[in-house]
Amino acid sequence: MASNFSRRNFLIAGTAAITTSTTIAIGQQKPGKTRVDLAKGQSRPFDRDRFVEDCIKAHMETDARSAVREVLARAVSDHGSVLKTLGDPSKAGLDVLLSSPTLTIFAAAWTPQMNLLPHDHEMWALIGIYTGREDNILWKQGENGIEAVTANCLFEGDVTTMEADAIHSVTNPLLRFTGGIHIYGGDFFATPRHQWDPETLEVEPSDGDVIKEMFARENERYNKVCL
Ligand SMILES: [Fe+2]
Repeated sequence: MASNFSRRNFLIAGTAAITTSTTIAIGQQKPGKTRVDLAKGQSRPFDRDRFVEDCIKAHMETDARSAVREVLARAVSDHGSVLKTLGDPSKAGLDVLLSSPTLTIFAAAWTPQMNLLPHDHEMWALIGIYTGREDNILWKQGENGIEAVTANCLFEGDVTTMEADAIHSVTNPLLRFTGGIHIYGGDFFATPRHQWDPETLEVEPSDGDVIKEMFARENERYNKVCL
């Protein structure tokens, strides 16, 4: 692989996500992304209540998304501490830290080699990985439906930002669980959204209940195939 390609991120064309790692475009050098001051507060072990409080405070700032992202990046920079507090994932699911009309925070666990079909959020989103790895394909609306445009690989300690109109599909490529903290600038569970059939790319309605059913099916698959 060419030396200027990061193992963590590659870009096919365009971008809908901002990661803490360097992003390289084919035929186009993307500007380097700034890592936040990870030293700040790094010595304190992760505490879920304090983390939620810090996110709520950050969300009141003028540039709310950037401020919350900084809190998230600081937390997952010490991903071992987050894992110790939230626990090793053992099934697919969401551990909800905060559900409110303006801000949702949960820890999402992906089973080994789990795939999540293309979906949108209808609000900005942040993902910070604290164990394992998550690969994202970013899609965009084209004239004939959605088309893949970008991909990134998130490792432990990485953070990505997704715009409100982002569409992504997710894969855990590892033979072990992946865990990430997901933060949304709205009510993730009550907001009607969309998902796309992974084979036909036909659009379908989605919401919190649909996602929960998806996790239940995934756990059935994992228990049947992997255990
Ligand atoms: Fe998502």
